[in-house]
Amino acid sequence: MNAELQTPPGPSDYLAPVFAQYPIEVVSAEGVWLHTRDGRRILDLYGGHAVAALGYGHAGWTHALESQARTLSFQSNAVPLDVRVRAASRLIRFANLGFDSVFFVNSGAEANENALKMAFKLTGRQEIVALEASFHGRTAGAGAVTWGAAEKWYGYPRTPFDVRFTSRSDIAALTRNITSATAAVIAEPVQGVGGAFDLGRPFLEALAKRCAEVGAILIFDEVQCGMGRTGQPFAANFYGVTPDMITTAKALGNGLPCAALLMSPRVTAQVKLDALGTTFGGGPMACAAIEAVIEAIESEGLLANVRRVAAYIRETCIVGPVVAHQGAGFLTGLRTRVPAKQVQAALLERDILTGTSSDPHIVRLLPPYVLEEAHVDLLRAALEDLPTAAPR
Ligand SMILES: Cc1ncc(COP(=O)(O)O)c(C=O)c1O
Repeated sequence: MNAELQTPPGPSDYLAPVFAQYPIEVVSAEGVWLHTRDGRRILDLYGGHAVAALGYGHAGWTHALESQARTLSFQSNAVPLDVRVRAASRLIRFANLGFDSVFFVNSGAEANENALKMAFKLTGRQEIVALEASFHGRTAGAGAVTWGAAEKWYGYPRTPFDVRFTSRSDIAALTRNITSATAAVIAEPVQGVGGAFDLGRPFLEALAKRCAEVGAILIFDEVQCGMGRTGQPFAANFYGVTPDMITTAKALGNGLPCAALLMSPRVTAQVKLDALGTTFGGGPMACAAIEAVIEAIESEGLLANVRRVAAYIRETCIVGPVVAHQGAGFLTGLRTRVPAKQVQAALLERDILTGTSSDPHIVRLLPPYVLEEAHVDLLRAALEDLPTAAPR
């Protein structure tokens, strides 16, 4: 069996053929396990691109959605809703970073678009600084601040504003590249697509300091690394560096599509009536999902679980083709001697689903927060079974 990602089948299934596909057909899932049509049980260490934070079939989340669907499935933001206020206040308390407002939207890219818009409004400046190897989404603004998008898939004739990229590790370059012309810096504190790459506290502190010096807004894109994935509510808590805005999505809804822009009081003060908008953002189903996710993370001690099991992965899984690890919490990169795609394919043949990244030697793990040590033992055993070097 060839377990590598396969090219899409083409128009016969009526789906636009844009996504490479894993060679598995998943029909149901429970906890950290996927069940396929041909009877396999696959350990999911990828969580649908970091979405399935609570795992599959979580009782509290399922109950919250069922009961919200029965009570009130939708009303727009023009109608005040208790569940929306509850989700916003719960999220602000969960973050515990001094933010005082939330704008709910539908996707990570949309959250970033709105964050950038707020930064332009606040500063009256026109340039954004982004980091090497960043990924912020596929829309015009989010794609513009994504590293390498222009060469690969950007697709628009021009970017809507000026963008300057700076190194993700060179602290001295921050002074050169972040200036009084910079409206905002957008950064993933732990890069996801960039290879589970942890920017680290010294870099983030220098970034925040430089933004403060020149009056630029600091945006943390925590679409992938936020909502408990580092073992703290947000990477901002993990590093002790608080930005002006945080965008988050993915784990936020555990599969119910939703995203949020969290704003500090200084940003909130500039939000005027009708300045931002959305139809579906902040809908009652999304808000019920958000509330259920935070409730589960807090009541089931999932942050502590992420910290403990992530440490166990790092202690036990430097075996077989894996030579090192990087990232933070459950955004872990296993550095492989052989191409990561080969390791990923071999692991899938052994019923373990993992991801890759733009770094060809990183296997990316984004498991549900309910993962246990016994599951990690399965990963370790599978890795030990793999060749440690590429065939000549
Ligand atoms: C860090 C980061 N930002 C933004 C996005 C875009 O999110 P979405 O696909 O929900 O638009 C992603 C998606 O992978 C991401 O990893």
